[in-house]
Amino acid sequence: MHFPEYLDHCQHWINDGLITVLDQTAVTSGRIREAMAYSTMAGGKRVRPMLVLATCEALGGTAEKALPAACAIELIHTYSLIHDDLPAMDNDDLRRGRPTCHKAFDEATAILAGDALLTLAFEVIGAFEVIANHQQLPAEVRLQQSITLAKAAGCNGMIEGQARDMQATGQTLTIDQLKELHKLKTGALIQASCTLGALAAGASQNQIDALCEYAEAIGLAFQIQDDILDVTTSSEILGKPQGSDIEFGKNTYVSLLGLEAAQQEAQALCNTALNALDKVTTNKDHTRRLRELAIYIVDRKN
Ligand code: IPE
Ligand code: IPE
Ligand code: MG
Ligand code: MG
Ligand code: MG
Repeated sequence: MHFPEYLDHCQHWINDGLITVLDQTAVTSGRIREAMAYSTMAGGKRVRPMLVLATCEALGGTAEKALPAACAIELIHTYSLIHDDLPAMDNDDLRRGRPTCHKAFDEATAILAGDALLTLAFEVIGAFEVIANHQQLPAEVRLQQSITLAKAAGCNGMIEGQARDMQATGQTLTIDQLKELHKLKTGALIQASCTLGALAAGASQNQIDALCEYAEAIGLAFQIQDDILDVTTSSEILGKPQGSDIEFGKNTYVSLLGLEAAQQEAQALCNTALNALDKVTTNKDHTRRLRELAIYIVDRKN
């Protein structure tokens, strides 16, 4: 299967998993349930869940084993976008090609729908068998996955990154400060995606450590490319407002280094990631999808 078909296939499969999760867990009807589905099923690229699946498969596991963690990380990512768009944060009106959650509903509903998606992610890791009639991983693995997810999403990971992003808005950071910020706000969840997939495959700590270099490089590259797209791509293609970073005085790789240097940095990180995969296994067939995903992350147009 060529990469574009693989992408399409995975996106469908992950979307089916997410629909099942939402249908089986959010049994109450009403605005919160509606808002959760509105933002989750709005056509995100599903990069993080794909990394979970591709890592699990690269290390000899099946995609089925990775599905609960894949759904969980996408729920957390979606919650982070809902909150990121709120007036108190980036104050954006467009997300995934639709009005942002607080615009389509209201601010209170957006905050609560985000909270509910975050909480649901941990229910999914813990009880996917009950939710989706799906074979469950051993309890020890699910515990490790929960801890991984909590650490990456929490106050030493994504939240700290978002807090630094907000604090620095309107001021100028050094490139090293911005690198740390990007690693936290975006890199942490992307790194966790790889770790979750590795855990689902029953990988050893050595294998997980070997993957870390790959995951760290693509995590940072992902946010650099996001900064680049903010100035190079239209709102229609992005599905979110172009120029939002400039409008709100955000520190980005483009604002600090310029477009060309930002592009070079993203490309260099992609190469670092590809080289790191050679240390994970010498069998290039196994890591094919991870290599393709690294290239996709810096070549993507939305
Ligand atoms: C956007 O993430 C927010 C960042 C961390 C840069 P994505 O670009 O993965 O957004 P979706 O999921 O495809 O909408
Ligand atoms: C957001 O970064 C990262 C999150 C943790 C949600 P951005 O603020 O750059 O993401 P976009 O550009 O709005 O998607
Ligand atoms: Mg933001
Ligand atoms: Mg934003
Ligand atoms: Mg951005």
